[in-house]
Amino acid sequence: MTISTLTITRPDDWHLHLRDGEALEAVVGHSARQFARAIVMPNLKPPVTTTEQALAYRERILAALRKGGAQASSFTPLMTLYLTDNTDPEEILRARDSGAVHAVKLYPAGATTNSDAGVTDLLGRCARVLETMEKVGMPLLAHGEVTDPAIDVFDREKVFIDRVMMPLRRAFPALKVVFEHITTADAAQYVRDAEGPIAATITPQHLLYNRNALFQGGMRPHWYCLPVLKRETHRQALVEVATSGNPRFFLGTDSAPHARGLKEHACGCAGCFTGLHAMALYATAFEAAGKLDALEAFASFHGPDFYGLPRNTGTLRLEREAFSIPDELPFGQQTIVPLAGGETLPWRVST
Ligand code: DOR
Ligand code: ZN
Repeated sequence: MTISTLTITRPDDWHLHLRDGEALEAVVGHSARQFARAIVMPNLKPPVTTTEQALAYRERILAALRKGGAQASSFTPLMTLYLTDNTDPEEILRARDSGAVHAVKLYPAGATTNSDAGVTDLLGRCARVLETMEKVGMPLLAHGEVTDPAIDVFDREKVFIDRVMMPLRRAFPALKVVFEHITTADAAQYVRDAEGPIAATITPQHLLYNRNALFQGGMRPHWYCLPVLKRETHRQALVEVATSGNPRFFLGTDSAPHARGLKEHACGCAGCFTGLHAMALYATAFEAAGKLDALEAFASFHGPDFYGLPRNTGTLRLEREAFSIPDELPFGQQTIVPLAGGETLPWRVST
Protein backbone atom coordinates (compact mmCIF):
# COMPACT_ATOMS: atom_id res chain seq x y z
CA MET A 1 0.00 0.00 0.00
CA THR A 2 1.33 3.43 -0.84
CA ILE A 3 0.70 6.06 1.77
CA SER A 4 -0.20 9.60 0.78
CA THR A 5 0.95 11.53 3.83
CA LEU A 6 3.69 11.06 6.36
CA THR A 7 3.71 12.97 9.64
CA ILE A 8 6.91 12.84 11.63
CA THR A 9 8.36 14.56 14.66
CA ARG A 10 9.86 17.84 13.48
CA PRO A 11 13.36 17.06 12.15
CA ASP A 12 16.70 18.82 12.64
CA ASP A 13 19.56 19.37 10.22
CA TRP A 14 22.83 18.37 11.87
CA HIS A 15 25.06 19.89 9.16
CA LEU A 16 24.13 23.11 7.39
CA HIS A 17 25.89 26.02 5.65
CA LEU A 18 23.91 29.24 6.03
CA ARG A 19 26.60 31.72 4.86
CA ASP A 20 26.20 35.38 5.81
CA GLY A 21 24.69 38.67 4.61
CA GLU A 22 22.40 38.51 1.58
CA ALA A 23 23.10 34.83 1.01
CA LEU A 24 22.03 34.04 4.57
CA GLU A 25 18.84 36.03 4.11
CA ALA A 26 18.11 34.16 0.90
CA VAL A 27 18.47 30.63 2.29
CA VAL A 28 17.68 30.53 6.01
CA GLY A 29 13.89 30.54 5.58
CA HIS A 30 14.02 27.34 3.53
CA SER A 31 15.68 25.43 6.35
CA ALA A 32 13.41 26.99 8.98
CA ARG A 33 10.32 25.77 7.11
CA GLN A 34 11.41 22.17 7.56
CA PHE A 35 13.75 21.95 10.52
CA ALA A 36 13.47 23.07 14.14
CA ARG A 37 17.23 23.29 14.64
CA ALA A 38 20.41 23.11 12.62
CA ILE A 39 24.08 22.72 13.37
CA VAL A 40 25.49 25.73 11.54
CA MET A 41 28.89 25.37 9.89
CA PRO A 42 31.55 27.97 10.80
CA ASN A 43 33.40 28.21 7.45
CA LEU A 44 32.67 31.86 6.81
CA LYS A 45 35.27 34.31 5.52
CA PRO A 46 36.89 34.85 8.01
CA PRO A 47 36.00 31.62 9.85
CA VAL A 48 34.07 31.58 13.12
CA THR A 49 36.87 30.65 15.51
CA THR A 50 35.68 32.18 18.80
CA THR A 51 32.58 31.98 20.94
CA GLU A 52 32.16 35.72 20.62
CA GLN A 53 32.07 35.42 16.81
CA ALA A 54 29.67 32.47 17.03
CA LEU A 55 27.27 34.42 19.22
CA ALA A 56 27.38 37.42 16.85
CA TYR A 57 26.75 35.10 13.87
CA ARG A 58 23.84 33.54 15.76
CA GLU A 59 22.28 37.00 16.14
CA ARG A 60 22.68 37.67 12.40
CA ILE A 61 20.92 34.38 11.62
CA LEU A 62 18.02 35.25 13.92
CA ALA A 63 17.81 38.74 12.40
CA ALA A 64 17.73 37.24 8.89
CA LEU A 65 14.88 34.95 9.94
CA ARG A 66 12.88 37.88 11.30
CA LYS A 67 13.57 39.91 8.18
CA GLY A 68 12.21 37.05 6.09
CA GLY A 69 9.01 37.07 8.10
CA ALA A 70 9.72 33.87 9.99
CA GLN A 71 9.24 33.67 13.70
CA ALA A 72 12.79 33.61 14.94
CA SER A 73 11.67 31.37 17.78
CA SER A 74 10.61 28.64 15.35
CA PHE A 75 14.21 27.83 14.35
CA THR A 76 17.22 27.47 16.60
CA PRO A 77 20.70 27.74 15.11
CA LEU A 78 23.13 25.52 17.00
CA MET A 79 26.51 27.18 16.61
CA THR A 80 29.94 25.65 16.00
CA LEU A 81 33.54 26.81 16.19
CA TYR A 82 36.10 26.36 13.45
CA LEU A 83 39.12 24.49 14.81
CA THR A 84 42.55 25.88 13.90
CA ASP A 85 46.10 24.95 14.82
CA ASN A 86 45.94 27.80 17.33
CA THR A 87 42.59 27.23 19.03
CA ASP A 88 42.99 27.87 22.76
CA PRO A 89 41.57 25.22 25.15
CA GLU A 90 40.05 28.11 27.10
CA GLU A 91 37.91 28.84 24.04
CA ILE A 92 36.28 25.43 24.44
CA LEU A 93 35.28 26.29 27.98
CA ARG A 94 33.84 29.63 26.84
CA ALA A 95 31.95 27.79 24.10
CA ARG A 96 30.54 25.27 26.52
CA ASP A 97 29.53 27.99 29.01
CA SER A 98 27.75 29.98 26.28
CA GLY A 99 25.10 27.30 25.91
CA ALA A 100 24.85 28.30 22.24
CA VAL A 101 27.92 26.58 20.81
CA HIS A 102 27.36 22.85 20.42
CA ALA A 103 30.37 21.50 18.54
CA VAL A 104 33.77 22.20 17.02
CA LYS A 105 34.40 21.60 13.31
CA LEU A 106 37.56 20.05 11.97
CA TYR A 107 38.51 21.04 8.43
CA PRO A 108 41.81 19.55 7.40
CA ALA A 109 43.63 22.57 5.90
CA GLY A 110 42.81 22.83 2.21
CA ALA A 111 40.17 20.07 2.16
CA THR A 112 37.27 22.20 0.94
CA THR A 113 35.55 25.62 0.71
CA ASN A 114 37.15 28.15 3.11
CA SER A 115 39.33 25.56 4.81
CA ASP A 116 42.64 27.42 4.47
CA ALA A 117 42.66 28.22 8.17
CA GLY A 118 41.99 24.58 9.02
CA VAL A 119 44.15 22.13 10.90
CA THR A 120 47.50 21.01 9.51
CA ASP A 121 48.31 18.32 12.10
CA LEU A 122 45.42 17.33 14.38
CA LEU A 123 47.18 15.31 17.06
CA GLY A 124 50.36 17.37 16.86
CA ARG A 125 48.75 20.80 17.10
CA CYS A 126 45.37 20.31 18.80
CA ALA A 127 45.97 17.72 21.55
CA ARG A 128 45.20 20.05 24.46
CA VAL A 129 42.03 21.31 22.80
CA LEU A 130 40.87 17.76 22.08
CA GLU A 131 41.56 16.80 25.67
CA THR A 132 39.39 19.67 26.88
CA MET A 133 36.62 18.77 24.43
CA GLU A 134 36.72 15.17 25.61
CA LYS A 135 36.49 16.30 29.23
CA VAL A 136 33.52 18.66 28.75
CA GLY A 137 31.65 16.52 26.20
CA MET A 138 32.03 18.93 23.26
CA PRO A 139 31.65 16.98 19.99
CA LEU A 140 34.23 17.17 17.20
CA LEU A 141 32.66 17.29 13.74
CA ALA A 142 35.12 15.95 11.20
CA HIS A 143 35.31 16.73 7.51
CA GLY A 144 36.78 13.28 6.92
CA GLU A 145 39.11 13.65 3.97
CA VAL A 146 42.89 13.71 3.81
CA THR A 147 44.35 16.50 1.74
CA ASP A 148 47.47 14.66 0.56
CA PRO A 149 47.56 15.44 -3.20
CA ALA A 150 49.06 12.00 -3.80
CA ILE A 151 45.80 10.38 -2.68
CA ASP A 152 43.14 9.91 -5.34
CA VAL A 153 40.16 12.20 -4.70
CA PHE A 154 37.83 9.18 -4.52
CA ASP A 155 40.00 7.56 -1.80
CA ARG A 156 40.45 10.53 0.50
CA GLU A 157 37.71 9.53 2.94
CA LYS A 158 38.90 5.96 3.25
CA VAL A 159 42.48 7.06 3.85
CA PHE A 160 41.27 9.59 6.46
CA ILE A 161 39.90 6.71 8.55
CA ASP A 162 43.32 5.08 8.82
CA ARG A 163 45.49 8.18 9.03
CA VAL A 164 43.38 10.49 11.20
CA MET A 165 40.18 8.98 12.59
CA MET A 166 41.66 5.84 14.15
CA PRO A 167 44.68 7.54 15.78
CA LEU A 168 42.41 10.35 17.01
CA ARG A 169 39.98 7.98 18.64
CA ARG A 170 42.74 5.85 20.13
CA ALA A 171 44.19 8.97 21.76
CA PHE A 172 40.81 10.36 22.90
CA PRO A 173 38.47 7.37 23.26
CA ALA A 174 35.76 9.30 25.11
CA LEU A 175 35.70 12.23 22.66
CA LYS A 176 32.35 12.52 20.88
CA VAL A 177 33.00 12.48 17.15
CA VAL A 178 30.63 13.00 14.22
CA PHE A 179 32.06 11.74 10.93
CA GLU A 180 30.37 14.33 8.73
CA HIS A 181 28.71 13.65 5.36
CA ILE A 182 30.03 10.12 4.92
CA THR A 183 30.21 8.96 1.32
CA THR A 184 31.75 5.48 1.37
CA ALA A 185 30.99 1.95 2.49
CA ASP A 186 34.29 2.17 4.39
CA ALA A 187 33.09 5.06 6.55
CA ALA A 188 29.65 3.50 7.04
CA GLN A 189 31.24 0.27 8.24
CA TYR A 190 33.74 2.06 10.45
CA VAL A 191 31.03 4.11 12.20
CA ARG A 192 28.74 1.11 12.52
CA ASP A 193 31.38 -1.09 14.15
CA ALA A 194 33.68 1.26 16.07
CA GLU A 195 33.65 1.46 19.83
CA GLY A 196 32.79 4.58 21.78
CA PRO A 197 30.83 7.76 21.06
CA ILE A 198 30.84 8.09 17.28
CA ALA A 199 28.12 8.93 14.77
CA ALA A 200 27.82 10.07 11.16
CA THR A 201 25.68 12.44 9.14
CA ILE A 202 24.51 11.55 5.63
CA THR A 203 23.41 14.02 2.93
CA PRO A 204 20.47 13.55 0.56
CA GLN A 205 22.72 13.64 -2.51
CA HIS A 206 24.86 10.76 -1.28
CA LEU A 207 21.72 8.66 -0.71
CA LEU A 208 20.19 9.47 -4.10
CA TYR A 209 23.09 9.65 -6.54
CA ASN A 210 26.33 8.00 -7.47
CA ARG A 211 29.20 9.65 -9.32
CA ASN A 212 27.64 9.01 -12.71
CA ALA A 213 25.31 11.91 -11.88
CA LEU A 214 28.27 14.27 -12.25
CA PHE A 215 28.75 13.33 -15.89
CA GLN A 216 25.28 12.43 -17.16
CA GLY A 217 25.04 14.02 -20.60
CA GLY A 218 27.90 16.40 -19.79
CA MET A 219 29.56 17.95 -16.74
CA ARG A 220 26.95 18.82 -14.16
CA PRO A 221 28.43 21.18 -11.58
CA HIS A 222 25.35 21.30 -9.39
CA TRP A 223 26.04 17.68 -8.39
CA TYR A 224 29.58 18.53 -7.33
CA CYS A 225 30.24 18.62 -3.61
CA LEU A 226 32.97 17.48 -1.26
CA PRO A 227 33.42 14.72 -0.43
CA VAL A 228 32.55 13.98 -4.04
CA LEU A 229 29.84 11.44 -4.99
CA LYS A 230 31.20 7.89 -5.10
CA ARG A 231 30.36 4.73 -7.04
CA GLU A 232 27.03 2.90 -6.72
CA THR A 233 28.20 0.28 -4.21
CA HIS A 234 29.02 3.08 -1.78
CA ARG A 235 25.63 4.74 -2.28
CA GLN A 236 23.95 1.43 -1.50
CA ALA A 237 25.99 1.02 1.68
CA LEU A 238 24.94 4.51 2.81
CA VAL A 239 21.26 3.78 2.13
CA GLU A 240 21.64 0.56 4.10
CA VAL A 241 22.95 2.24 7.26
CA ALA A 242 20.75 5.35 6.99
CA THR A 243 17.60 3.24 6.83
CA SER A 244 18.77 0.58 9.31
CA GLY A 245 17.50 2.27 12.48
CA ASN A 246 21.04 2.36 13.86
CA PRO A 247 21.15 5.49 16.07
CA ARG A 248 24.69 6.34 14.96
CA PHE A 249 23.42 7.61 11.60
CA PHE A 250 21.41 10.79 11.25
CA LEU A 251 20.38 13.61 8.94
CA GLY A 252 22.81 16.34 7.92
CA THR A 253 22.06 17.97 4.58
CA ASP A 254 25.38 19.77 4.08
CA SER A 255 23.29 22.18 2.03
CA ALA A 256 26.03 24.48 0.73
CA PRO A 257 24.77 27.37 -1.40
CA HIS A 258 27.01 28.99 -3.99
CA ALA A 259 25.86 31.56 -6.57
CA ARG A 260 25.08 30.04 -9.95
CA GLY A 261 28.03 31.80 -11.59
CA LEU A 262 30.49 30.29 -9.12
CA LYS A 263 29.18 26.78 -9.74
CA GLU A 264 29.03 27.10 -13.54
CA HIS A 265 32.63 28.18 -13.72
CA ALA A 266 36.02 27.02 -14.98
CA CYS A 267 36.86 26.12 -11.37
CA GLY A 268 33.42 25.60 -9.88
CA CYS A 269 32.78 25.65 -6.14
CA ALA A 270 31.91 22.45 -4.24
CA GLY A 271 28.49 22.27 -2.66
CA CYS A 272 24.93 21.16 -3.42
CA PHE A 273 22.08 23.44 -2.40
CA THR A 274 19.39 21.25 -0.85
CA GLY A 275 18.04 23.63 1.79
CA LEU A 276 14.90 24.20 -0.28
CA HIS A 277 13.78 20.58 -0.61
CA ALA A 278 15.87 18.53 1.80
CA MET A 279 13.04 16.60 3.42
CA ALA A 280 11.42 15.79 0.06
CA LEU A 281 14.79 14.48 -1.15
CA TYR A 282 15.29 12.30 1.94
CA ALA A 283 11.71 10.98 1.72
CA THR A 284 12.34 10.07 -1.92
CA ALA A 285 15.52 8.19 -1.00
CA PHE A 286 13.97 6.34 1.94
CA GLU A 287 10.90 5.38 -0.09
CA ALA A 288 13.06 4.07 -2.94
CA ALA A 289 14.65 1.74 -0.36
CA GLY A 290 11.21 0.67 0.92
CA LYS A 291 12.08 2.22 4.28
CA LEU A 292 9.89 5.30 4.68
CA ASP A 293 9.09 4.08 8.18
CA ALA A 294 12.75 4.58 9.13
CA LEU A 295 12.82 8.25 8.11
CA GLU A 296 11.57 9.71 11.39
CA ALA A 297 14.27 8.19 13.59
CA PHE A 298 17.01 9.22 11.13
CA ALA A 299 15.67 12.76 10.74
CA SER A 300 14.29 13.51 14.19
CA PHE A 301 15.57 11.17 16.93
CA HIS A 302 19.15 10.01 16.41
CA GLY A 303 20.68 13.48 16.13
CA PRO A 304 19.33 15.00 19.36
CA ASP A 305 20.00 11.75 21.19
CA PHE A 306 23.68 11.85 20.17
CA TYR A 307 24.07 15.55 20.97
CA GLY A 308 22.29 15.14 24.30
CA LEU A 309 19.51 17.55 23.35
CA PRO A 310 15.76 17.02 23.72
CA ARG A 311 13.83 15.67 20.75
CA ASN A 312 11.47 18.18 19.14
CA THR A 313 7.83 18.22 20.11
CA GLY A 314 6.23 19.61 16.92
CA THR A 315 5.59 17.68 13.73
CA LEU A 316 6.29 17.99 10.01
CA ARG A 317 3.93 16.64 7.37
CA LEU A 318 5.02 15.35 4.00
CA GLU A 319 2.53 14.75 1.20
CA ARG A 320 2.84 12.53 -1.79
CA GLU A 321 2.32 15.27 -4.32
CA ALA A 322 4.60 16.08 -7.23
CA PHE A 323 7.06 18.82 -6.38
CA SER A 324 8.74 20.55 -9.31
CA ILE A 325 12.14 21.71 -8.17
CA PRO A 326 12.65 25.24 -9.49
CA ASP A 327 15.47 25.83 -11.99
CA GLU A 328 16.82 28.62 -9.84
CA LEU A 329 16.03 30.78 -6.85
CA PRO A 330 16.95 34.34 -5.85
CA PHE A 331 20.25 34.61 -3.98
CA GLY A 332 20.94 38.26 -3.17
CA GLN A 333 21.92 39.99 -6.42
CA GLN A 334 22.47 36.59 -8.02
CA THR A 335 20.67 33.27 -8.28
CA ILE A 336 21.20 29.79 -6.97
CA VAL A 337 20.43 26.44 -8.59
CA PRO A 338 18.95 23.82 -6.26
CA LEU A 339 20.14 20.22 -6.58
CA ALA A 340 18.16 18.51 -9.36
CA GLY A 341 16.59 21.82 -10.41
CA GLY A 342 13.98 21.29 -13.13
CA GLU A 343 13.26 17.74 -11.99
CA THR A 344 10.22 16.52 -10.09
CA LEU A 345 10.10 14.79 -6.70
CA PRO A 346 7.21 12.58 -5.56
CA TRP A 347 7.06 14.19 -2.10
CA ARG A 348 6.62 17.70 -0.80
CA VAL A 349 6.48 19.30 2.61
CA SER A 350 2.97 20.48 3.58
CA THR A 351 2.62 24.18 4.12
O1 DOR B 1 30.74 20.58 -0.94
C1 DOR B 1 31.05 21.17 0.07
N1 DOR B 1 30.73 22.47 0.23
N2 DOR B 1 31.74 20.53 0.99
C2 DOR B 1 32.22 21.17 2.07
O2 DOR B 1 32.86 20.53 2.88
C3 DOR B 1 32.07 22.63 2.23
C4 DOR B 1 30.89 23.10 1.51
C5 DOR B 1 30.83 24.60 1.36
O3 DOR B 1 31.03 25.30 2.35
O4 DOR B 1 30.56 25.07 0.25
ZN1 ZN C 1 29.62 21.00 5.01
